Amino acid sequence: MKRVISLLLPLAAALLLAACSSDTSLSSPDGRYELRFALDARGGMSYTLLADGEELLLPSALGFESREAVLDSGFRIRGVERRTIDEQWSQPWGENKQMRNHCNEMAVRLSNDTGTRLTMRFRLFDDGVGFRYEYEVPGADSLIITDERTEFRFAADGDSWTIPANFETYELLYRHLPLSELTDANTPATFHVGRHYGSIHEAALYDFPEMTLLRTSPLCFKSELAPLPDGTKARTAGSFTTAWRTVQLADEAVGLINSGLILNLNEPCKIEDTSWIRPMKYVGVWWGMHLGVESWTMDERHGATTENAKRYIDFAAANNIQGVLFEGWNEGWESWGGRQSFDFTRPYADFDMDEVARYAAERGIEIIGHHETGGNIPNYERQLGQAMAWYTDHGVHNLKTGYAGGFPDGYFHHSQYGVRHYQQVVETAARYRMTVNAHEPIKDCGIRRTWPNMMSREGARGMEWNAWSDGNPPSHTVMLPFTRLLGGPMDYTPGTFDILFENTRNSPRRRKWNDLDQGTSRVNTTLAKQIANWVILYSPVQMASDMIEHYEGHPAFQFFRDFDADCDWSRALAGEPGEFVAVVRRAGDRYFLGAATNEQARTLTLPLDFLEAGRRYRATIYADGADADWQSNPTSYTISEREVTAADSLEVRMAPGGGQAVTLIPM
Ligand code: NOJ
Ligand code: CA
Repeated sequence: MKRVISLLLPLAAALLLAACSSDTSLSSPDGRYELRFALDARGGMSYTLLADGEELLLPSALGFESREAVLDSGFRIRGVERRTIDEQWSQPWGENKQMRNHCNEMAVRLSNDTGTRLTMRFRLFDDGVGFRYEYEVPGADSLIITDERTEFRFAADGDSWTIPANFETYELLYRHLPLSELTDANTPATFHVGRHYGSIHEAALYDFPEMTLLRTSPLCFKSELAPLPDGTKARTAGSFTTAWRTVQLADEAVGLINSGLILNLNEPCKIEDTSWIRPMKYVGVWWGMHLGVESWTMDERHGATTENAKRYIDFAAANNIQGVLFEGWNEGWESWGGRQSFDFTRPYADFDMDEVARYAAERGIEIIGHHETGGNIPNYERQLGQAMAWYTDHGVHNLKTGYAGGFPDGYFHHSQYGVRHYQQVVETAARYRMTVNAHEPIKDCGIRRTWPNMMSREGARGMEWNAWSDGNPPSHTVMLPFTRLLGGPMDYTPGTFDILFENTRNSPRRRKWNDLDQGTSRVNTTLAKQIANWVILYSPVQMASDMIEHYEGHPAFQFFRDFDADCDWSRALAGEPGEFVAVVRRAGDRYFLGAATNEQARTLTLPLDFLEAGRRYRATIYADGADADWQSNPTSYTISEREVTAADSLEVRMAPGGGQAVTLIPM
């Protein structure tokens, strides 16, 4: 016995040594990125991020502050566990249906003298890093979180592309600033430092406020959480796990778009049967209201009438479009901006829901329901289950939600209160087999992997801003793929063909309804760029947003007819944030290519080597006309055809503010 113990002792000592090993660094599978975790003399935590052997982020603090427990100091390492994850997984829809999750993981187990236990879980991928906090405070049944200490301390200055930090809205214009001039930002916060492009964001955000970035010293940003009305940040249980803090990394800007890191850090799908969740193209009774020639309320300009609904359903059925959205169909729009007391089971008298539902079903068209809450969460939560049951009873399985208006009692949209609400809607919808497309949402942190009924959302300035404000500048839609869309799909709703509002501007029906409307609005684009945006601005529910009369008989609408929103594979081919972008997607054996530029004219040479080798394709090219210009001649376009193979390249010539779209169909 003695002998056995003496033999075991060195082994135990070795294990203990391994557990306490001071090696707390982790490399990406390809060895290019390295993360070093460290404790200071007070037991405070930090991490350093290296890229190709050089510091990209200098030692940056980690931890939280709470009223009831010490969550940021006094820590000792109890052990370090490591593993490599390398797995394939698939999703029912997405830019890419087949995914690979390949990373090295390090879990650093810590505890401090007050009894707080913490696992810092780090994952290093070839396309960046994610880390999260897994706290256990024994004896505490709840905690009030007062601050987050996580920092991102850049080693050098560089470029950044962000919107300002704002706890209420993401519908803001992007800024291109040196990191040294950035004071605050929302995420995804995209940067270019040295040879590295990157973007700071978060993944798997549940029951916690959103993270924004606040400068605390030159080139150093800390996480600033959206507060609750009393200024504290979150209420958690004694044990809680945060969202992942992420830094996507790539050598080229398009590498960020092609990264799967955010989805890989989310949990697998929780919906067993996903066969009812299907991408689709849609049109809707929508743009007319934003232009002011129709109304959401039931007056002589009411958009959502039974008659108009049927017109849209007929158009969808005739044009290979699967869904139709109706806004302003229910009672309560008179109080929008006031009491916000919408009723989600009472259609307006001139919208015969039974008849519309019957008419749509007969033609194989899906209705996209609409719940505008105006931000009145209590009113919506009271009706939620009933409202979804009412829709599904009418065969409606897709829902657009909206939160245009402040939440009551001082709650911010992006606070823990908001995050909880948005999630409650997603999970309730899943029970009713409904998909969700949320406007004025919480930002996308990749929960679509776990809840694939959460299909699309707004969360940036979308098309609507062009109807009633100075509009989105030409750089905006070539900025979104490198920023907002790194989080996930966006319901931007591209596709305005009447770019200068020639058919509606002087209409006697038009009324100003938005304070920003000065009567001079237009879409800052060429026609070809609108078409390209259907490919570029990924959404599994993709809208042709113009009024259908502007598509009737238009030759260029053929693109949308041919387009398939249910893609299998995607690749961003070229681009720089806010300057230009080119993206290709494959759906079945068809390819759709979209390219766009900012104010500057540009020609790209794009090799078609993504096509199946040896196969011939008919390329239909929707291009800017030779004299096109977003300012002076936006509707000049050409459609041409040619035969191509994978050995060919396309010369993509784009006018100022223009773009190009191509369908590639096997011959
Ligand atoms: C804002 C949404 O973004 C828009 O799509 C919708 O039409 C209005 N709110 C009204 O619900
Ligand atoms: Ca909006």
